[in-house]
Amino acid sequence: MDLLVNPPLEGSMSDCFLWDSRLDTGIPEIDRQHRTLHRLINRLDRVIASETLLPALPEILEELASYAASHFKYEESLMSGFEFGQESHRRIHADFNLKMLEMKQKAAENPAETAPWLLTFLLKWLLTHIVDTDMRMAKKLLAMQAGRSEIEAEREAQAFELPLPYIMEKLYDEMAGKTRELIATRRRLAMEIEERRALEAEFARQARTDMLTGLSNRRHFFELSEQELARSKRDGELLSMLMIDLDEFKSINDRYGHQFGDSILKKVGEVFRKTLRAGDIYGRVGGEEFAVLVPESDEKEASEVAERLRLEISTIPGSPSERTERVTASIGIVTLPAVGADIDLLLNLADRAMYQAKHAGRNRISRADTGTQEAPRV
Ligand SMILES: [Fe+2]
Repeated sequence: MDLLVNPPLEGSMSDCFLWDSRLDTGIPEIDRQHRTLHRLINRLDRVIASETLLPALPEILEELASYAASHFKYEESLMSGFEFGQESHRRIHADFNLKMLEMKQKAAENPAETAPWLLTFLLKWLLTHIVDTDMRMAKKLLAMQAGRSEIEAEREAQAFELPLPYIMEKLYDEMAGKTRELIATRRRLAMEIEERRALEAEFARQARTDMLTGLSNRRHFFELSEQELARSKRDGELLSMLMIDLDEFKSINDRYGHQFGDSILKKVGEVFRKTLRAGDIYGRVGGEEFAVLVPESDEKEASEVAERLRLEISTIPGSPSERTERVTASIGIVTLPAVGADIDLLLNLADRAMYQAKHAGRNRISRADTGTQEAPRV
């Protein structure tokens, strides 16, 4: 018999399991062939992990069939001189071939389900056939070659302590390691997806928000207003638009600097958040201009909202040191039935009313419908 030198150990860290020299039977050609099976098992495992079953699975099954044909033929030729033991071994080989035919049929119907079955079957084969039947057959053959009778050789082979517990533990450790790796990878991926979602949500929020005041920016205010207007039209409601412009803001900026001006704008943002209802739509639509769409509001209700805003804004200090100077705002209001209105019209009318309030002396409210000015109540 041509006993070759054992080939080098094979396998990489990504393998389902690494070849271990304790899996060797001691007959190099058989061991070389077993390593072909080992490579196929690891390839199948990678294919399952990468979810690219087609066309890899039919290819693997073809290679398994060809492996079995030549490997079983070789083993059976080695056993041909045995008086006993070879029939049961041949039957095991025949069962393997039948199993491969069954897998081939199942793989054509459902590759996703078949691939893990095949992997489990091959791992069991490794533990029950290679690390048992083949190993004992090899020990018997080597003992006979050393001059023992078949009965003596058989007895020695049966007495041989199989490395099964060691191989099983090793396989379990490697599988457990892979499972832990998989769980860690899944966790990391889930975290990355979550971080990405949060980042996208933050970008979306920033795209909608005026960063200084935290209010909706002009574009987002328009978007929300359009939606609300469409709803109000369907329900046939009245709605009001308020345009709020801070008085003499340029001069505050010029006198006390932009930083102070910015702090005022932030405080105005807080006033809006504190004073307005959840259903009101508001935003910073210009440098010191703010707009509020008040749904389901008549003139009286809109005036009350405007007055609350005017009063709250007038509590904001208008200079860094002087205690008496206060920020004031001029507010224009328009109230219209939603049907027939559009956002541009509402804003134009509210803007015009706001200028009327400016011309009438600032720090007051003006209505677009009547042009009536309300004197400041402070
Ligand atoms: Fe075998």
